[in-house]
Amino acid sequence: MSYKRTLITSALPYANGPVHIGHLAGVYVPADIYARYLRLRGQEVLFVGGSDEHGVPVTIRARKEGITVQEVVDRYHTLIRDSFKEFGISFDVYSRTTSPTHHKFASDFFRRLYDTGKFIEQTTEQFYDPETGEFLTDRNIRGECPRCHSLGAYGDQCEKCGSALSPDELINPYNAINGNPLQKKATSHWYLPLDQYQSWLEEWILKDHTEWRSNVYGQCKSWLDGGLKPRAVTRDLDWGIPVPVEGAEGKVLYVWFDAPIGYISNTKELCDAHPDKYGQWETWWKDQDTRLIHFIGKDNIVFHCIVFPTMLKAEGSYILPDNVPANEFLNLEGDKISTSRNWAVWLHEYLQDFPGKQDVLRYVLTANAPETKDNDFTWADFQARNNNELVAIYGNFVNRALVLTAKYFANHVPARGTLTDYDRETIGDIQAVRTRIESLLDTFHFREAQKEAMNMARVGNKYLADTEPWKTAKTDMERTGTVLNIALQIAANLRIVFEPFLPFSSSKLGEMLQAGPTEWNQLGSMDLLPEGHALGQVSLLFEKIEDSAIEEQKARLEHIKAENEAKAKEEELLNWQPAAVKADTTIDVFDKVDIRVGTVLDCQPVKKSDRLLCFRIDDGKDGRTILSGIAQSYPDPSVLIGKQVLFIANFPPRKMMGIESQGMILSAVNADGRLTVTTVTAPVKNGAQVG
Ligand code: MF3
Ligand code: ZN
Repeated sequence: MSYKRTLITSALPYANGPVHIGHLAGVYVPADIYARYLRLRGQEVLFVGGSDEHGVPVTIRARKEGITVQEVVDRYHTLIRDSFKEFGISFDVYSRTTSPTHHKFASDFFRRLYDTGKFIEQTTEQFYDPETGEFLTDRNIRGECPRCHSLGAYGDQCEKCGSALSPDELINPYNAINGNPLQKKATSHWYLPLDQYQSWLEEWILKDHTEWRSNVYGQCKSWLDGGLKPRAVTRDLDWGIPVPVEGAEGKVLYVWFDAPIGYISNTKELCDAHPDKYGQWETWWKDQDTRLIHFIGKDNIVFHCIVFPTMLKAEGSYILPDNVPANEFLNLEGDKISTSRNWAVWLHEYLQDFPGKQDVLRYVLTANAPETKDNDFTWADFQARNNNELVAIYGNFVNRALVLTAKYFANHVPARGTLTDYDRETIGDIQAVRTRIESLLDTFHFREAQKEAMNMARVGNKYLADTEPWKTAKTDMERTGTVLNIALQIAANLRIVFEPFLPFSSSKLGEMLQAGPTEWNQLGSMDLLPEGHALGQVSLLFEKIEDSAIEEQKARLEHIKAENEAKAKEEELLNWQPAAVKADTTIDVFDKVDIRVGTVLDCQPVKKSDRLLCFRIDDGKDGRTILSGIAQSYPDPSVLIGKQVLFIANFPPRKMMGIESQGMILSAVNADGRLTVTTVTAPVKNGAQVG
């Protein structure tokens, strides 16, 4: 061990939604296991977390919910912080990138690189909305997919065919928020010239860090093999940290520039507030005896292995990460977890449904940790691991040891007499776990490490089954005492070995055993509980999870699936509308579109849809039904009844949510994104053609 202390960081989650099991499995549980393990070993550790509150996702969420960006980040920062706390993620600090400390720190960091000539400045043409005066980010640009020609593809990806896109490839790009057509306009930004660090990075990663996980090493290698290019570290956006350079109004630091600096500024915030306890922040970030470990998901690899180290290297006075144990992704019942599709198990909801069962989820997520490949969370597996492992092995063993001691020895640790060969063998098995589990934890193999811990419980369980103290109690109390003494020592060992993984259960077990504070190096000892020691009250460490609870969860997911399918159909309609209107309004197209006037006879929200309104229109003939995705703009659709509106009369009928739509109501978009139906200024005969 050539280091004095370990600085552990875990990716700062975007404050644009609650956290789910994928976050926990991929980043926070492994980071927490590691932090707890090192602390138990008596090492100096700092575990840093926080919320990532800048970037485009939070602004999109704000628009969707009709609240300010500040309100969005306040809400989710609090929710996320509380969820982590409830799951026992033992951060030393959990702050946020909107904190004044962070703003100043990140701004100064940028300025230092700027002043020492570490950036290059480049001017490029970007998509621009002349009406709002805004440059658009990739995600806010939509248009026709150049590959599959579906409408409404995003500037970074077509969700229909899955192609990765750049905004330049979209056909008829428009502003996703208001539908405006876009122009190109020149804008200048600062770039971090990664290409200048290519050979240094190759040396540092590919030669000096061959021990990194193969998924991490492999991704780095493929980025490096592809040749690095300069990366913009600023953006045209009104949410974020202003670029501290004169003439850079309207520009902010790119979120991926400021967020990792959050690890440093959060450390500073903590150390400045409690210097006696945590020392100076510089010790954690600049002393060569500090080891820095980043826990992240695989989508963050390039930023933590290439971009952030380059920033630190360019600055010059910081240490670099020693390891970046990134995980692959966790799926849910076979499908990719998705915040926007609500396909997730949210931590705050889990706790409502399974109160007090934090450790069960921690256990299952570690048992299925996506360490080497994507993995799947299923409710059936959750139940099986709880019932067959936590309850049947660990819980059952502890319970039998304690109940039998209460019964035969008045709840006091009995004396240990002469040992048999089998006793010695069992003790040897328990003691052998320690080195195995240490070498697994030291190399970030959490899943295997937890398996070893459970094996220790298996050894104990088998020991009691083989020695049958409830039988020997009839004839030989000394033998019974020896067996139970050993069993109780094993239980005390389990409390230690599981503490990094299942902290809540360890503290519960600690109470049952009335045992004092633990240290990792006591692991393997058969003298954790002295003879005659009085034990506490017995209760169940884990409880069986019934089928009905699992069925409920599965039904919830089924329901979400059905909702998503309905939404996807609606989405299709909505994309089809603006694009149809936007399709070149040349005379040719105009001739083909038959626009007419009609009176709204009735207008009702469509059941189970947040967006569709169902219009009944007097079109001068037999009347027709038209669906329109403008419900969000008309909280009270009855205001439209009696109005004359314009509609397209010759669109092929389409069925949605079980209703056939026979045309399209024409709406105009307001600057704030709200839609308003188009009408005539004087009464017209229904069915009259517009041209
Ligand atoms: N917010 C990012 C994400 O959720 C992670 C940021 S990690 C940091 O993918 F290093 F930038 F903080
Ligand atoms: Zn496509």
